[in-house]
Amino acid sequence: MEDVKKDDNIIGTLVNSLIDSGFMVGKLSWKFTKWCFDGWVNLEKPKFNILFEETKLYNSNKKNKPILKKENHTNKTDVYIFTIPTGLSILDFTKRKEQIAQFLHTDLQHIKIENKNNLACITVYKDDAIEYFYEDYQFQMTKDIQIPLGINLENWNVVYWNPNETNSCHLLIAGNTGAGKSTLVYIILTYIIQYRDDVDLYLQDVKKVDMPYFVDAKQVVRYNPGKDYADETIAALVDEMNARYDYLTEKKVRSMSELKPKDRLNSIIYVVEELAVFKYGNGKGKDAKFFEKLRLILEQGRAVNITVICITQSPYSSTLPGEWKANFPCIVGLKTRTQEASKVITGDYELLTNLRGRGHGYLLSPQKDIEFQAFNIKLDTIKKIVEKNKKTDSEK
Ligand SMILES: Nc1ncnc2c1ncn2[C@@H]1O[C@H](COP(=O)(O)OP(=O)(O)OP(=O)(O)O)[C@@H](O)[C@H]1O
Ligand SMILES: [Mg+2]
Repeated sequence: MEDVKKDDNIIGTLVNSLIDSGFMVGKLSWKFTKWCFDGWVNLEKPKFNILFEETKLYNSNKKNKPILKKENHTNKTDVYIFTIPTGLSILDFTKRKEQIAQFLHTDLQHIKIENKNNLACITVYKDDAIEYFYEDYQFQMTKDIQIPLGINLENWNVVYWNPNETNSCHLLIAGNTGAGKSTLVYIILTYIIQYRDDVDLYLQDVKKVDMPYFVDAKQVVRYNPGKDYADETIAALVDEMNARYDYLTEKKVRSMSELKPKDRLNSIIYVVEELAVFKYGNGKGKDAKFFEKLRLILEQGRAVNITVICITQSPYSSTLPGEWKANFPCIVGLKTRTQEASKVITGDYELLTNLRGRGHGYLLSPQKDIEFQAFNIKLDTIKKIVEKNKKTDSEK
């Protein structure tokens, strides 16, 4: 019996020590894994101190480097917020943008450096294909016309354009080929067709391929492919504008907005896709008369709710003289390839060359410049919405 007990004890001790050593191994391997993981995390974490040292981003007594106050990581962006040491400004950061981008394993198109509440905010956009679809959002019919354009990249709110507002009415959309100009026009037209029976659309589809989907919508009063009927249409719009001014005089008011809603006439939005096809030639070109009328509408249309949207991929002084730009209170600047184009549109050589393209742009207005990502839209969505809002046979 004693022998059996002894054997039991030996087996028990053996089992216990096996379990113990198992635990030890487990513990050790956990420690090792954690150590490796921590090491990996530390490796991955950008060592900003080294960057600031190497790029000499510190103030003269060399003691004060920017301090990382906050960081925020989402699947779309990495945001790092730093103090700006005394004696330095945000320019000291932007001057080193290229090195900072390289350090964060990105390029100039995917990084933004700005001053936010006296802190330097560095945003890295992770994804090339940041995309927000129009159909994923619910919009309403509002009292004022508020047309959604996209998502504000600072606060993720929807960015709107109000064509009847004094400070924003006429809109110029400029950017290189493929920057997203036509897609933005689709958003504007689709929204109007879906929600606004109080808007009449006049479309000059200069490139013939951009707006045919909209022809049958009930708001479309005129659709001209190419340059067809451009002179007649703009002349008709100037006549309509003059008639509206007579109407205001009759009602003894100065603008449509002063009238009771029931007395207001429909807003008119006139879209010219590709302005560069019209030859201005310093007022002596083939289309000088067209431009003369366009200028009249740009100058006087607002009070009678006639708004112009012009799109151009060649925003150079030959197609868009400086004094003309002043007539567009609202400009959407999309990606440009050349610094000259960026300068013509925004006054800044790099603002638009640094964009990602595909609807990434700035809405520039007297109130505020907003960096945004324009909505994308599927052709199917457009077709469905137009189908639901088709002209009746009597309206054709
Ligand atoms: N807001 C957006 N979100 C995502 N992708 C977009 C967006 N806008 C445009 N794109 C992509 O870029 C492509 C080109 O867009 P679009 O045709 O609108 O450019 P464009 O500026 O009108 O070019 P072009 O001057 O050649 O007419 C689209 O087919 C689409 O794939
Ligand atoms: Mg286009």
